[in-house]
Amino acid sequence: MTLKSAEYQEPESKSAPGRGTVVLDGVTKSFRGLDGSKVVVNNLSLTIETGEFFSLLGPSGCGKTTTLRLIAGLEQVDSGRILLGDRDSTGLPAHARNVNTVFQNYALFPHLNVFDNVAYGLRRQHVKGPELRRRVREALELVHMYEYAFRKPQQLSGGQQQRIALARSFVTEPSVLLLDEPLAALDLKLRESMQEELKRLQRELQLTFLFVTHDQSEAFAMSDRVGVMEGGSLVQVGTPEEIYLHPVNRFVATFVGRANFIPLSLVDGGSGSDLSTIATRRSDDRESVAIEKGTLSSGTTSSDSTEPTIFVRPERLHLYVEADSSPHQGPRVRGTIIDRTFAGGVTTVRLGVRDDFEVIVTCDSASTEVRDAAIGDAAYAVWSPDDATVFEM
Ligand SMILES: Nc1ncnc2c1ncn2[C@@H]1O[C@H](COP(=O)(O)OP(=O)(O)OP(=O)(O)O)[C@@H](O)[C@H]1O
Ligand SMILES: [Mg+2]
Repeated sequence: MTLKSAEYQEPESKSAPGRGTVVLDGVTKSFRGLDGSKVVVNNLSLTIETGEFFSLLGPSGCGKTTTLRLIAGLEQVDSGRILLGDRDSTGLPAHARNVNTVFQNYALFPHLNVFDNVAYGLRRQHVKGPELRRRVREALELVHMYEYAFRKPQQLSGGQQQRIALARSFVTEPSVLLLDEPLAALDLKLRESMQEELKRLQRELQLTFLFVTHDQSEAFAMSDRVGVMEGGSLVQVGTPEEIYLHPVNRFVATFVGRANFIPLSLVDGGSGSDLSTIATRRSDDRESVAIEKGTLSSGTTSSDSTEPTIFVRPERLHLYVEADSSPHQGPRVRGTIIDRTFAGGVTTVRLGVRDDFEVIVTCDSASTEVRDAAIGDAAYAVWSPDDATVFEM
């Protein structure tokens, strides 16, 4: 079997670039270390549209910050091009690019008060007098911090400092804001409210936001589109829904949520049967065309490593104990309930299918399927073919 390249292919752009369009065209960057040169960003091509909220998502070390630094001009590419708006900006120094960056450690000037921190970039652009005061005031009002204008950074909480850093970054009206895990230092509650504020700000300012995070829920909550990176390459680009429901490979599937990969031979009626009754999508088919009848069956596989597996999210599975008749039609896998974990609204049930294989089912805690399920019961997990994807790798 030939494995498809796990790299995202950027389609041809249809429209003329707007002021805040970011185009990466085959961008590659290596760093020299003690053990030789290492490719950190690998032939990355991507177009981010004006006014889009785009997130780069990926594990630590996959090259997210380096990609941002290349766009900002804080690093220079080895090869490829970077276009900002309609201008080829490859090789331009940072100050000549109309982008601003907000870093995780927001680095406010400690000796300047809030007003002067926000005014700093404007003064460098020779803005002064009433216009300076108006623009600083408007920026601070947008982040709800105007009444703190005359405090010093150390008199503010982490979340308040973060908002000042944001105001400072957009007050100079860049076309693109680059945000490198700006919420990572905040506690969960504050992070969630800042996510909403960021989204609101982005809508009001209609700026292009390129946001970097390794937290999938954060990326999903805010973004129009998400690009998933692994080892310096873009693996998939899509809306949060596309990425979550139709990941192109196992890495994406498991990075953005819990996933079941059920070997075809364990599916009831799976062996040798028509796969279109088990799953309607294929992982190597990014256009989501239904599986043609009979294109694949477990009979075509020669070893375990190439046996097709069926990918289904835990919350798309329905559980029913063997003694009951199932209200759900569809393909299924049989096992024994080995554990159930109550987590408020949902209960997670582990179904042992084989000694070395189990399926996770997430159920509504108030549902009868959960009420009736006891540890040790024989049970089925059932799904709809529309919720399942065939992986051949
Ligand atoms: N200036 C540098 N010199 C050498 N290696 C570097 C340099 N900057 C980054 N790297 C290496 O490049 C790789 C990617 O780093 P990068 O900071 O882009 O990752 P990241 O995706 O932002 O990770 P994290 O989520 O931890 O911030 C890492 O292996 C890192 O050690
Ligand atoms: Mg980083």
